[in-house]
Amino acid sequence: MNLPFEPCDLGGLALRNRIVMAPMTRSRATTTVPDALTATYYAQRAGAGLIVTEGAQVSEQGRGYLFTPGMHTKAQVAGWKAVTDAVHAAGGAVFAQLWHVGRLSHCSLQPGERAPVSAVAKAAAGVQAYGYREDGTPGQMPASTPRALAAGELPGITGDFVAAARNAIEAGFDGVEIHGANGYLFEQFINGGLNTRDDAYGGSDIGNRLRFVIETVDAVVAAIGGDRVGIRLSPFNRVFDMPAFEGEAETWLALARELSTRGLAYVHLSNRAAIMASAGEDFLRAFREAWGGTLILAGNYTRESAAADLEGGLADLVAFGRPFIANPDLVERLRNGWPLAEGDTATFYGGGAVGYTDYPAYRREPEPA
Ligand SMILES: Cc1cc2nc3c(=O)[nH]c(=O)nc-3n(C[C@H](O)[C@H](O)[C@H](O)COP(=O)(O)O)c2cc1C
Repeated sequence: MNLPFEPCDLGGLALRNRIVMAPMTRSRATTTVPDALTATYYAQRAGAGLIVTEGAQVSEQGRGYLFTPGMHTKAQVAGWKAVTDAVHAAGGAVFAQLWHVGRLSHCSLQPGERAPVSAVAKAAAGVQAYGYREDGTPGQMPASTPRALAAGELPGITGDFVAAARNAIEAGFDGVEIHGANGYLFEQFINGGLNTRDDAYGGSDIGNRLRFVIETVDAVVAAIGGDRVGIRLSPFNRVFDMPAFEGEAETWLALARELSTRGLAYVHLSNRAAIMASAGEDFLRAFREAWGGTLILAGNYTRESAAADLEGGLADLVAFGRPFIANPDLVERLRNGWPLAEGDTATFYGGGAVGYTDYPAYRREPEPA
């Protein structure tokens, strides 16, 4: 039971335990700039061995929701600097998640109200974006039909990730996590059911579908160093209209092998349960072997299942998402076996301090005299 609470090394960065705060969009950045409330929120949760921030878009084009923060302007970097200072002052470590949503956006959020971009011009069925209605008020609306990116545009997006990674380092982050998971831009290229391009970035050839994400990983590593770069992936996660496809396991294992030679700090898999349900523990072990480096797993962890996965050698670190929302002192609660508070889903996204920074740390009843 003790392994989750033991210190560990992440690419030379000393972590005080093996519990990661998973990236969670909270949509509190009214101007796309993180503010003092966001600094307080993350500092309250600095007891995690590592915090991975909510996704921060690398460009206006990469944005899919109102009120998410960016990592591409001077003002955003200054806002994030206050966040990293607060987390470091509280003894924590923090990576920024860098995000491009691809087709999971709406024209009203895009520069010039143009169509969002993706591997192919196919809309994500049944997916809502959070943008501006015709009358200019915020609201949920179906994600817009994207246009297919020309191959010649991809180096520009890779460049946006490089610039954002440099910005993150300037803002004091210990590293960045490239968001390659959950149906966003990179997965739109990786997924063989969606990406039917007939050029060097798509189609039935696995290497073609992996090319864009690998080129971006290489460029970010060249800019800030591999030990400051992690990547999040979500094999077999059927969110946001990501179809099953032929050769799915081979695709993810090929990506794991490619990543194994890049000197990255970690690979982070966002949905352990989806992997177990579709491909099972054998796949997870094969992935771990092919990757060979530090592996973070996330998804529905409890104190017991987290300890079991670490002790069973399935993961090196475990990430908790929702439990960190209502339990700023989650690590202490897990360590002591204290009860966990339930988060209010109505305040997961948007708003201010309520449901964000007002969850208290656990207070034990005084021992009877
Ligand atoms: C409110 C909320 C926002 C999320 N935002 C992100 C995000 O920005 N980036 C990401 O990779 N995953 C995001 N996720 C997924 C979580 O990181 C995590 O993988 C998922 O919640 C499963 O972990 P859990 O069962 O411990 O909550 C989000 C989840 C929630 C509940």
